[in-house]
Amino acid sequence: MYGRGCFDQLDEIISPHRVGNQPMIFLVDHFFKNKSLIDRVPVRGLDKIVFADVTHEPKTSQVDAITKELKDEFGLISGIVGIGGGSTMDLAKAISLIMTNPGPSSDYQGWDLVKFPGIYKVGIPTLSGTGAEVSRTCVLTGPTKKLGMNSDFTPFDQIILDPELTANAPVNQRFYTGMDCYIHCIESLTGTYLNEFSKSYGEKALQLCRKVFVEKNKWDSECDDLLMMASYAGGMSIAYSQVGVAHAVSYGLSYLLGTKHGIGNCIVFDKLEEFYPEGVAEFKYMVEKNNIEIPQHITKGLTDQQFDTMINVSLGMKPLWENAVGKDWEKKITREKLRALYERL
Ligand SMILES: NC(=O)c1ccc[n+]([C@@H]2O[C@H](COP(=O)([O-])OP(=O)(O)OC[C@H]3O[C@@H](n4cnc5c(N)ncnc54)[C@H](O)[C@@H]3O)[C@@H](O)[C@H]2O)c1
Ligand SMILES: [Fe+2]
Repeated sequence: MYGRGCFDQLDEIISPHRVGNQPMIFLVDHFFKNKSLIDRVPVRGLDKIVFADVTHEPKTSQVDAITKELKDEFGLISGIVGIGGGSTMDLAKAISLIMTNPGPSSDYQGWDLVKFPGIYKVGIPTLSGTGAEVSRTCVLTGPTKKLGMNSDFTPFDQIILDPELTANAPVNQRFYTGMDCYIHCIESLTGTYLNEFSKSYGEKALQLCRKVFVEKNKWDSECDDLLMMASYAGGMSIAYSQVGVAHAVSYGLSYLLGTKHGIGNCIVFDKLEEFYPEGVAEFKYMVEKNNIEIPQHITKGLTDQQFDTMINVSLGMKPLWENAVGKDWEKKITREKLRALYERL
C-alpha cells in the first residue's frame, strides 16, 4: 500500500490475519517511544508493542532473545508488524522466521537456508533508502559474520508505504539512508549482473534520488514521497542483481567498528572514484549541496590485525565483488589494494 496517511488502515489490513486470540506484535523503532504515532497503533486484545533498540544494527542474539520472550509469553502469535528504519524492519523479518524455524538465527545466515515460511509479517518504513521493505534479506551480525538471512520466505507479506512517517527525520540520517538507495542504483546499474529487470527499477530509483538530492533546493513533503518510492524501486533493482564495492567494503567497517550501514556506505563511496567515477562525482555534489559532513580518517590508528579483519569480511562478500568487477575479481582485488582503500577511509 502507498499513500499519505495510509498507516491508519493498518487495523483493517491485519484483521483478516488474526488467528483466534493470538496477539499481533508491533515491533516499533525506539525513536517512537512517547511519540504520537504510538497512539495510532491498532492494539487489540493481547496485542503487544515491543520497542526495538536500534542503537546498534540488529544482531542474531537480539533476534533470538526477542523471539524467545514472545514464545515464552504467548506461545503462538498471529503476526509481527515492523515499524521503523531498515534495522527495525530487518528485526521484524528475522523474528517472523525464527518463530517457525528451529535453532538460533545464526544458522540461517546465508542463502536459502530458511526451511519454513515465517509467521505473517508487515513492514512499515519510517526512513527511506535501504529497500529493506522489499528485499529478500534481513541483515544480521552474528557470532562469526555479518550476513543476511536471504530466502524466499524473508520478504514481508504486506508493506505499508506512508511518506508522512518519514517527515522530520534528522537531516543527516535522512541523507545517509537516502544515499544507501543512491548507491544501490549506481552499484546495480554499473554491475556485471545487470539485466532489464534491475535496470528498469534502478534507472527509475536513480531519477527519483536525483530529484530529491540534486534538483530540489528545500526539503518538503514531495521529497518524502519521492524518496519512499526511490527506496522501493532501488530495492527491487538489487533484488535481481547485487550491490558492489561500497557495500563490500562498508561491511568490513561495520563488522569491526560498528559503523552503521548508511553512513558507512557514504564514507566508503566518497573514496571510490576509481570504480564509480560519475557516481562519486555526483555524490560529492549532493554532499555539498545538502550540507552534509562525511566523517574522515575513521580507520586511523587501527592495527594490522584489525585491517586484516576488515579485509577478510570484505573479501567474503564474493557475489558483490563479482558483480562489481567481474568473474576474475580475485585477480583485481588484492589484499594490498583493499588495505590501501581502508587506510583512506
Ligand atoms: N534488508 C535489506 O535489504 C537491507 C538493505 C540495506 C540496509 N539494511 C539494514 O538497514 C539498517 C539501516 O537502516 P536505516 O538506514 O533505515 O536506519 P536504522 O533503522 O538503523 O535507523 C537509524 C536511526 O534513525 C532512527 N529513526 C528511524 N526512523 C526515524 C524517523 N522517522 N525519525 C527520526 N529518527 C528515526 C532510529 O531510531 C535510529 O536511531 C542496517 O541495519 C542495514 O544492515 C537492510
Ligand atoms: Fe544498502
